[in-house]
Amino acid sequence: MRVIAIANQKGGCGKTTTSINFSACLHFLQKKVLLVDLDPQGHSTCGLGIKTLKGTPTIYELLSPIQAIPTSFTQVIRTLYPDFDIMPSQASLNALEEEANFMPNHHLLLKNLFARMEEQHRGYDFVILDCPPNLGILTWNALNAADEVIIPVEPSFFSLHGLGKISETVQNLDRTRQTPLTVHALLTNFNSLLSFSQEIHDDVRAHFKEQLFRTIIHENVMLKEAAAAGQSIAQYAPGSPAFQDYLNLVVEYLERDWDRKLPSETLGWDNVYKNRFGPKLMSDGILFQFQSKTASSVEVAGDFNRWVPEALVRRNDDGLWQKVIRVGEKAFRYKFIVDGEWQVDPSQPTQKENAYGGLDSYAEFA
Ligand SMILES: Nc1ncnc2c1ncn2[C@@H]1O[C@H](COP(=O)(O)OP(=O)(O)O)[C@@H](O)[C@H]1O
Ligand SMILES: [Mg+2]
Repeated sequence: MRVIAIANQKGGCGKTTTSINFSACLHFLQKKVLLVDLDPQGHSTCGLGIKTLKGTPTIYELLSPIQAIPTSFTQVIRTLYPDFDIMPSQASLNALEEEANFMPNHHLLLKNLFARMEEQHRGYDFVILDCPPNLGILTWNALNAADEVIIPVEPSFFSLHGLGKISETVQNLDRTRQTPLTVHALLTNFNSLLSFSQEIHDDVRAHFKEQLFRTIIHENVMLKEAAAAGQSIAQYAPGSPAFQDYLNLVVEYLERDWDRKLPSETLGWDNVYKNRFGPKLMSDGILFQFQSKTASSVEVAGDFNRWVPEALVRRNDDGLWQKVIRVGEKAFRYKFIVDGEWQVDPSQPTQKENAYGGLDSYAEFA
């Protein structure tokens, strides 16, 4: 279970929008996801169309140290779709700060909650934490429970101002953790027509260097509309550029995650790169690869995704495109779509004729 906090003490920089749509795009890529609304304003909750009546148990009841009757996960967790759950919040969560203030280990309430959740076999692939716009107890709990943090940055002078503060918080936190928190930064609400946008992009990159995602979330009114309709962008407008932005972000994130997991001597990038012949079986799926310096988009479609193309990510200047897909089948047909043109995999010798008289690439794993 990988826990990702979306945090920045500044309000309005896209934490909630990113929490909702990052979760939705992980789910779109067949990951099992829990979104935890840690903001008493409950924007993620209502942004996904969840209603919480007064008295309905929410994340507050699960975290609060002064509950007479324990609240169960089932009472709180709402299922939006199979494998996409949310722990909602409401204004009651404001009380936690005061209640927990004088407790020892009050910064570990959320971490302990997740440990209990896993003990009860309620595991997820990813848990996303939407943090409130301050560095109080709730954000502190989130950062302590998280493996990683994504810091959304919206291009304005004031947002740059706050970056020192959040970076300092993460550094202080790392002194008390066994493994350092992995930091990512994300440019959101980006309008490339504004003259200062590029300048701010450069400043943010100078601050975060490789931690800054290459993917940028552009300003798009559909993200506001989707939230107002109580839907993620994956539901509201799956054909929109805003959906593509968030999907690209998740793919880039998964590639980073996967980079870290790769055992370096046996299957380092060099080996993968040198021996790239056809799809490869990896620990969490099948790696698809394609080589092209000139293509501007490469997708893969096959039996495993009902022939709905999924984008590969360009990894480097040599034109290596890659994507890992969770594939259930031991044998499958597939094709690449390069700039819209369907073609067989040039590095896979096995092919099979399809019902339309053409050829599909074919792979089999024992
Ligand atoms: N990429 C974007 N394009 C257009 N509007 C956006 C975008 N990202 C966020 N917004 C809008 O900006 C406002 C603040 O975003 P939100 O995600 O709620 O920030 P935070 O949770 O950090 O306070 C919301 O009205 C949201 O709909
Ligand atoms: Mg918010």
